Amino acid sequence: MSQEILLLSGPNLDELGIRSPEIYGYETLEQHVIRFERLASEAGFSVRHLQSNFEGDLIEAVHAARAQSVAIVLNAGALTHSSWALADALSSFEGVKVEVHLSNPAARESFRHLSTLAGVVNGTIAGFGAVSYELAVQAVRRLVDGRQG
Ligand code: DQA
Repeated sequence: MSQEILLLSGPNLDELGIRSPEIYGYETLEQHVIRFERLASEAGFSVRHLQSNFEGDLIEAVHAARAQSVAIVLNAGALTHSSWALADALSSFEGVKVEVHLSNPAARESFRHLSTLAGVVNGTIAGFGAVSYELAVQAVRRLVDGRQG
């Protein structure tokens, strides 16, 4: 049975394609997820995806992942910059954790420079648009292999 990656998408990512396309591109979340699922499948993983505009939904999905997922890849949207609760939830997930952003928050407004999540994930991939998600699959494969090897 293939190992599962939980892919989490936070607030407003359901608006991708129409939301600030000059920053986030014209691809919809569904398109990103379909590509992520295909690459993950080629790398030997199944994917469970959840998008929510509600912090608590994302926190509960992280709790549930403890029993079923080897890795969490998350783009928490603006919760990245404010949610200590999501950071706390992630800190008790012992699998691989990769933070993803389409844009490069470090090159944008100052409120985006803080990531509450950065300290509890294995690493962050930001600024490569759709490619950020592709790189996240590679990172998960390498990190999961490292843990098993
Ligand atoms: C984002 C960056 C965040 O600052 C922003 O709030 C988002 C999207 C990104 O993918 O670039 O919603 O996470």
